[in-house]
Amino acid sequence: MDYLKINKKLWNDKVAVHLNSDFYDNENFIRTKASLNPYELALLGDLRQQHVLHLQCHFGQDSISLAQLGARVTGVDFSDKAIEAARQLADTTRTETVDFICCDVYELPRQLDKQFDVVFTTYGTIGWLPDLTKWAEVIAHFLKPGGQLIFVEFHPFVWMFDEDFKQIRYSYFNKQAIVEEETGTYTDRNAALQNTSISWNHPVSEVVNALINAGLSIRSLSEYDTSPYNCFKNMEQVGIKQYRIAHLADHIPMVYSIVASK
Ligand SMILES: C[S@@+](CC[C@H](N)C(=O)[O-])C[C@H]1O[C@@H](n2cnc3c(N)ncnc32)[C@H](O)[C@@H]1O
Repeated sequence: MDYLKINKKLWNDKVAVHLNSDFYDNENFIRTKASLNPYELALLGDLRQQHVLHLQCHFGQDSISLAQLGARVTGVDFSDKAIEAARQLADTTRTETVDFICCDVYELPRQLDKQFDVVFTTYGTIGWLPDLTKWAEVIAHFLKPGGQLIFVEFHPFVWMFDEDFKQIRYSYFNKQAIVEEETGTYTDRNAALQNTSISWNHPVSEVVNALINAGLSIRSLSEYDTSPYNCFKNMEQVGIKQYRIAHLADHIPMVYSIVASK
């Protein structure tokens, strides 16, 4: 199965719905230019004069937010609809220190000849990539010596469950591609969208070892019992930008972060 073709259609179709969603609240974003969450903000240093590569940037809210903190940002996504919307959003917000490239993560070394102080990638990214060895090599390729990866992601524990978080559906160590028929999207479960998705679950050890094998040093690894996004079924809010599965309370990790340096 051509996972790139199938997932590109899935993500292209989501863009218009996401742009108009309460979840992304783009109207408010255009005013604030601030979409980053406390977890990643706590890991980012002073971004003034820093060159940041933002992998899987979707329609650019976080890329523009990074630029707003003083960085020169390159956002990358394989969805042409997302990149079109990201360029439009940069224009609307008059953000001149951001540019966008439409490209598959694995193809990027053939499309871009530059090194960066920071590679940034967060929430819902690696699950779309089958091979983390290749992913980590791309990150190492684009980091300057001394540069840092800032990575925040949903915890693989979360992806073990069924949609209602009532039963374990996949092994933590599941290696096969997960092929699902999806209706709606995380910003609106009733949206008129119907697509196939192909994704992979990656245990934390696979992520860490891929980064180490690509020559990076792990500086920190943290796990958090809340998600900044209300994007799963049966969530309750327990603080500002803090959500968790109501019946699982603080018993499971929702999100984790890694800082690694070259
Ligand atoms: C959940 S979104 C990431 C959102 C992110 N938290 C942000 O900054 O807005 C996942 C993104 O990954 C992109 N994507 C999926 N597979 C990709 C690939 N192989 N190469 C590049 N982008 C990809 C999708 O188009 C989508 O925009």
